[in-house]
Amino acid sequence: KKRMVSGVQPTGSIHLGNYLGAIKNWVLFQDMYDTLFFIVDLHSITLPYDAQELSRVTKKTAAIYMACGVDTSKASIFVQSHVRAHAELYLLLSSATPMGWLNRMIQFKEKSRKAGDENISVSLLTYPVLMAADILLYQSVFVPVGEDQKQHIEFTRELAERVNYLYGGRKWKKLGGKGGAIFKVPEALIPPAGARVMSLTDGLSKMSKSAPSDQSRINLLDPKDVISNKIKRCKTDSFSFLEFDNPERPECNNLLSIYQVITNKTKQEVALECQDMNWGIFKNVLTDALVDHLHPIQVRYEEIMSDTGYLDSVLAEGARKAADIADVTLNNVYQAMGFFRR
Ligand code: TYM
Repeated sequence: KKRMVSGVQPTGSIHLGNYLGAIKNWVLFQDMYDTLFFIVDLHSITLPYDAQELSRVTKKTAAIYMACGVDTSKASIFVQSHVRAHAELYLLLSSATPMGWLNRMIQFKEKSRKAGDENISVSLLTYPVLMAADILLYQSVFVPVGEDQKQHIEFTRELAERVNYLYGGRKWKKLGGKGGAIFKVPEALIPPAGARVMSLTDGLSKMSKSAPSDQSRINLLDPKDVISNKIKRCKTDSFSFLEFDNPERPECNNLLSIYQVITNKTKQEVALECQDMNWGIFKNVLTDALVDHLHPIQVRYEEIMSDTGYLDSVLAEGARKAADIADVTLNNVYQAMGFFRR
């Protein structure tokens, strides 16, 4: 089976964008591929964070994966920092990464603009190198992510090719290396709909964990009345019917798209169903669809969190399996880069 990996940062609350852009699709792929899903705690510390909370939100994120349908009899779930190879490969890859590649990253520019000089850590800049390590360690073929991660996957591909070129092939064979390339070159899998869920208060900016207003996002664990209130107050427009793809109506497009993905309908079906609705009616329909979809996830989440012994054992098993795969790649990289191995 081809391998697939992906992950979410545990800090900040997990929202509808993370779910529709990533986690919901992981569940669809777990029968087809050999899947590993991690909680990227090492990525979470690249911006100021609460050390008192990190461990708790890491577990919470694992529970959310399972509540969303990641099935541990098929997929492995583990915590990034539990598998040391991530940090080690990150260091090795750092020396193969040209500085200019990092300076070009859109997310770095955006995050550092918001963070202010004092809060820009070195690791915020080298973040994509750690992400490349996450993916390349497992010889992953596919990486299901939202639209905003596209550039990071492109970076990962280029870095894989560069390392294969610098240290792989004949050079590696001479050092006793087996097989072809050091790294497989992975591909992003971006869903046709839901890949870029926008804010509820501004249809031109992305729904995000870090936006100051909680009104701007639906969190996966928001109770019914909170969802209903957020949808009631979300930004709309003064047109009297609903349609997709009108550039003057980004909010309308976003809310219809959310409705489409959450109900598993086609765009045509939704366009037809909603064309004559006014905002008041559509908001009720959307709220019901969201609550119907999220409620069972929330019930499962509570069940999983009430038995943290089980959760701990899932994560321990996941880390063991992951380390077995990752260590093979890591050893190959040390060898190919010419290190003296004991
Ligand atoms: P993170 O934690 O910001 O987001 C997790 C996943 O959610 C997707 N996403 C969205 N999709 C649609 N609409 C949105 N508004 C939206 N916001 C977020 C993201 O695209 C992502 O798929 N660097 C990554 C985590 C990571 C990773 C990896 C992913 C670290 N190593 C290796 C894949 C493979 C991140 O910060 O995602």
